Amino acid sequence: YFVDKGNHRHFMEKEIHEQPEVVSHALAHYVDLGNHTVDPAATGLIDFSSLRGLAISACGTAYLSGLIGKYWFERYARLPVEIDVASEFRYREIPLSADQAALFISQSGETADTLASLRYCREAGLKIGAVVNVKESTIARESDAIFPILAGPEIGVASTKAFTCQLTVLASLAIAAGRARGTISEAEEKQLIKSLAEMPRLMNAVLNTIEPQIEALARELSRYKDVLYLGRGTSYPLAMEGALKLKEISYIHAEGYAAGELKHGPIALIDENMPVIVIAPHDRFFEKTVSNMQEVAARGGKIIFVTDEKGAAASKLPTMATITLPNVAEIVSPMIYSLPIQLLAYHTAVFMGTDVDQPRNLAKSVTVE
Ligand code: AGP
Repeated sequence: YFVDKGNHRHFMEKEIHEQPEVVSHALAHYVDLGNHTVDPAATGLIDFSSLRGLAISACGTAYLSGLIGKYWFERYARLPVEIDVASEFRYREIPLSADQAALFISQSGETADTLASLRYCREAGLKIGAVVNVKESTIARESDAIFPILAGPEIGVASTKAFTCQLTVLASLAIAAGRARGTISEAEEKQLIKSLAEMPRLMNAVLNTIEPQIEALARELSRYKDVLYLGRGTSYPLAMEGALKLKEISYIHAEGYAAGELKHGPIALIDENMPVIVIAPHDRFFEKTVSNMQEVAARGGKIIFVTDEKGAAASKLPTMATITLPNVAEIVSPMIYSLPIQLLAYHTAVFMGTDVDQPRNLAKSVTVE
């Protein structure tokens, strides 16, 4: 491929802004946008109806998309998911059986540990699916079914558009699995797909409005040494993704935690020197997350509140900043909330003057163990 940055300063910036377009390509590949149904051919050779469980293995950002996928497969398809980072998965001696299928998520399709987990599952007789960007990759070649994410070439070391495309594919597969297993109705399928179809428009709306605020906030964030991200439900893996993005390109130490775990340790760290980024759409978990936020506020912690219009109206707690996104359906919130998370890491890194597209010590694709 020859890819250039166009009008962008970095590939990462370009790739962030490409997301409305690439997620719509990914979605169109798996669902019928006219009828709002999943394309039955989309599940490839994997027969979800008879599966006893699903195993997922991946590294880094791809692992975090898999973790969000776990919430969806379990909720919509009532399919138990065993997931781990590939470097642990391959050595854990997980009891696996041929009535499970395995999914390997990898942008490059060449990550050594993910490939080793795939081979481990192949030995155990599982059907193998690959959620990959590079269709000619080793992981794709060694799989029974390829689920392309159609993100186009991703050059920035920090994964952005591959993440939201992986999520789009996993959401579509979870809905397909739910239909195959009879755990969601036709009406629920239509509703979920209608919500997914809103994604490109919502992403454009967010990208066109929040960037000036995020840039100003990034300037402030760059003065800190540690940042904590909190979330519940699918916002929990997203909190970890936010922390990963920030640390890999800005070199600021960051941690992502389940909001409910705050009391079990990290609360000891709260003071005015550690901003806490709370990812809290106004969903079923909102009240609980806000009560964790209250605990942060009560200890003088500085809060960056990433929420929606309903959430912003519902909380009166003082914040360092509130990033207000549109109200969105629960299934699309991880994709939409990825945008402020990515932009905040990006602008913080730009402000600090790091090599955004090729951060120190990192490789785009980790082909050795
Ligand atoms: C993400 O920003 C990282 N650079 C990294 O965690 C990456 O997602 C991981 O190495 C997995 O790569 P893959 O998707 O190509 O397998």
